[in-house]
Amino acid sequence: CGIVGYIGDGQATPILLEGLKRLEYRGYDSAGVALYEDGKLQIRKTKGRLTALEDLIKRECVAGSVGIGHTRWATHGEPSDINAHPHVNSKGTIAVVHNGIIENYMYLKERLQQEGYKFVSDTDTEVIAQLIDYFYKGDILDAVINAVSRLEGSYALAILSTYEPDKVIAVRRDSPLIVGLGEDGNYLASDIPAILKHTRNVYILEDGEIAVLTRDKVTVLDSLGKEIKKEVFEVKWDVEAAEKGGYQHFMLKEINEQPKAVRDTLAGRLPDGSDVKLDDIKLSADDINKINKIFIVACGTAYHAGLVGKNLIERLAKIPVEADIASEFRYRDPLVDEHSLTIVISQSGETADTLAAMREAKKKGSRILAVTNVVGSSVAREADDVLYTWAGPEIAVASTKAYTTQLVSMYLLAIKLGLERGTITEDYAEMLKSELRQLSEKIQKILDNQDTVQKLADNNYTAKDVFFLGRGLDYSVSMEGSLKLKEISYIHSEAYAAGELKHGTLALIENGTLVIALVTQKHLYDKMLSNIKEVTTRGAHVIAVALESMREIEKAVDDVIYIPDCAEEVAPVLAVIPLQLLAYYMAVARGCDVDKPRNLAKSVTVE
Ligand code: G6P
Repeated sequence: CGIVGYIGDGQATPILLEGLKRLEYRGYDSAGVALYEDGKLQIRKTKGRLTALEDLIKRECVAGSVGIGHTRWATHGEPSDINAHPHVNSKGTIAVVHNGIIENYMYLKERLQQEGYKFVSDTDTEVIAQLIDYFYKGDILDAVINAVSRLEGSYALAILSTYEPDKVIAVRRDSPLIVGLGEDGNYLASDIPAILKHTRNVYILEDGEIAVLTRDKVTVLDSLGKEIKKEVFEVKWDVEAAEKGGYQHFMLKEINEQPKAVRDTLAGRLPDGSDVKLDDIKLSADDINKINKIFIVACGTAYHAGLVGKNLIERLAKIPVEADIASEFRYRDPLVDEHSLTIVISQSGETADTLAAMREAKKKGSRILAVTNVVGSSVAREADDVLYTWAGPEIAVASTKAYTTQLVSMYLLAIKLGLERGTITEDYAEMLKSELRQLSEKIQKILDNQDTVQKLADNNYTAKDVFFLGRGLDYSVSMEGSLKLKEISYIHSEAYAAGELKHGTLALIENGTLVIALVTQKHLYDKMLSNIKEVTTRGAHVIAVALESMREIEKAVDDVIYIPDCAEEVAPVLAVIPLQLLAYYMAVARGCDVDKPRNLAKSVTVE
């Protein structure tokens, strides 16, 4: 999750540790460094906090003026000393630190094993070190270029080798990496704050670029090894702004990270042909066919993702699904048995109510499938099967990218279950898979237009009450939109199933009341229009979130935020983006502490 590198005249260890400390805010579960000392690579790495690494280095000193360091947020392989980075090849001559996910690592690992390579960790990163070794024929740069050409997935890599210890080599694809140009040496980092103390002049590496750092020079090459000229970027941010990647808040940064988070969560899971690959989920076709009921249990935003999951699984796999709030489920003696599957959704994997609900279901004989963002978390450890969301660390209390990746996981599961049970056709599954593949780009399109949402927020932030309306999947998204708004802006807000409005809530609509209407479900379009009419005739100010092709909606409402056209099944992933932005900009306009709203915590580990 964090990379730091240094080559220069100074001592590398303090520079690496200080750099890693600057990246601590992103969260991590283990840390390590590799230095070149007296002809050998010296590796110090450990599970746990940076202080554990510092203690280790105090006990087992290491010196040298070239090194690479890493803080890890586990993806492949649980947090442990062995799985911590750096990873080395069996000869101990090449050390690698890596951020990202190598999708074809199992294939590469098996090929290397056939060649006699032995592996000690479960990580995809060790495969990279061995692969570079495999290609090493006397020129380390050539070996790196050859190795990365075989990698599929996302990566930022820093490589140090005894073959050419006067160099640190860096490569990136879909995972950030920058080079710092200093006076007493050159630096490498996944994130600007790590090196800000030493230099403000950086090269921002682009996808496919390779940087070769020596003490007094940095050369940048394209993926074929041809030298290119890079512009020096002068960083003007202070450390605090740099931590947020130049954004004003973590929440905004995380909203903007969603195209990548969604892409990463889908990576390798949608192979060509009618299949969905779900990591180590061991549910056999037989197991899946025996399930007669599914429970989805979660809290907060994760519960809202569960509501979308319920709709989809019932629709695709024709299994009855109950979505339940964990704190309710655990005390209501639910009708769970050994034919049930309980899906537990939790970003942190540590929420007390969710954990307790999961244990309750387990006790009643249910199989447990966890959807979580944290490898090795309690939920992940105790579940029978785990499907990881690969959103990366989420820091803002209000969840954004975790939610969209939880949604994506629900689609993957629903398609998998539908295919196994034969309740959907392969053509239909293919259509959905293609829609999922397009999501990341479509989210980006909405983000590119965030000015429109910001303007609407600036015009409406004084609202006292806001009502979110929707039908079907739009109703589930409304609940998430409403939660986002109330938790960070402290504006009272409610989500309502649009058809239910007339049974009570309509009494609250008066002149100027703000209503956000979600209109992404084509088969419910006319019904939604009638509900919109119900509120506009009572004076409501309506902002619709609608598909681009629904232009005629402009006649019925005051403002429209458009999202790209898509199949209605996947619309929640797009529809929620403007709602997150609206909540964010309204909260900013009201001067709220967006990243740390009052009374709330990121992970609630007490009941
Ligand atoms: C807290 C957070 C929410 C989150 C909920 C569940 O209330 O503030 O953003 O949705 O916990 O957390 P989990 O880690 O289980 O998804």
